[in-house]
Amino acid sequence: MVTPGRIRPRRLRRSEALRDLVADTWVRPQQLVMPHFVLPAARGVEPIASMPGLARLGIEDLVRTVVADRELGIRAVLLFGSPAEGAKDPEGACAHDPEGTVPRAVRALRDALGSDIVTITDVCLCGYTDHGHCGVITDGEVDNDRSLLPLANMALAHAEAGADLVAPSDMMDGRVAAIRDALDHAGHTGVGILSYAVKYASAYYGPFREAADSAPQHGDRRGYQMDPRNAAEAIREARLDEREGADMLMVKPALAYLDVIQRVRAATTLPLAAYNVSGEYSAVKAAAAQGWLDEAAIVRENLQAMVRAGADVVITYHARDALRGRWL
Ligand code: PBG
Ligand code: ZN
Repeated sequence: MVTPGRIRPRRLRRSEALRDLVADTWVRPQQLVMPHFVLPAARGVEPIASMPGLARLGIEDLVRTVVADRELGIRAVLLFGSPAEGAKDPEGACAHDPEGTVPRAVRALRDALGSDIVTITDVCLCGYTDHGHCGVITDGEVDNDRSLLPLANMALAHAEAGADLVAPSDMMDGRVAAIRDALDHAGHTGVGILSYAVKYASAYYGPFREAADSAPQHGDRRGYQMDPRNAAEAIREARLDEREGADMLMVKPALAYLDVIQRVRAATTLPLAAYNVSGEYSAVKAAAAQGWLDEAAIVRENLQAMVRAGADVVITYHARDALRGRWL
């Protein structure tokens, strides 16, 4: 029998104050981003069945919600818009309408909160095309190069409305450069790009596609989103987007990809975001509703894991519950 002797890690775990003194990971409210699904109408609160606690919001209801969340300490939002009924077409033309849902929502948030809120807008065609793919289709395939202009125009519409950051999630090659060029030519040199640089083809997006009505009507997204088996490719994607002019990078999803977050963190000095996606949220909510998991403790542990892995920013549907319940 060997006794532990003089070196005892437990000494620093004896009280909360001691543990806090030496903790090397803290999740701060300032690093959280709350996503929102926005309806084209002024009013509306449509609960999302697969994401308990969340609803699609009309623009006035969005503003009311974001103002209340601001009181809790949430200072950044990521917006996804739904187009008006019947507006979807094969090209996703309504995605760059300056009077579209997201531009109007951005202007309304600016009017209510000025620069006290960071507005980030998702840039992708899947919520706006009738086929539900993230780009336009030529001969049955998602056409990379023909998708770049509509994506750049969409980003431009969001920038004109006053977005701080545009966040392309489509995974077309070269879209960061195309968006940077479009923004700069229009004089929006100050609007940043948060690139979904490392986005895997994941089953964890299921609930989101219901919420955003953006599921592909045929096939899947494996021809453009990354293969979950690949880690080295994450570095390649991250470096490419950095070279094309991205201001921030993202890894998505988060929990099954903590190794990827850690690798990308080591490969770039750009701020790095982790997206704690819809399926990760729904799984926790479902287990908590059954009484099988302690929601507060699980959310705390999950968010700490993302930050410990190297995320500077965490996009999470748990943001409001976590701050309201003082779970962090
Ligand atoms: C659109 C987009 C998706 C998500 C963010 N932007 C869905 C997808 O790629 O199918 C997923 C977010 C989530 O699951 O919370 N391209
Ligand atoms: Zn998409």
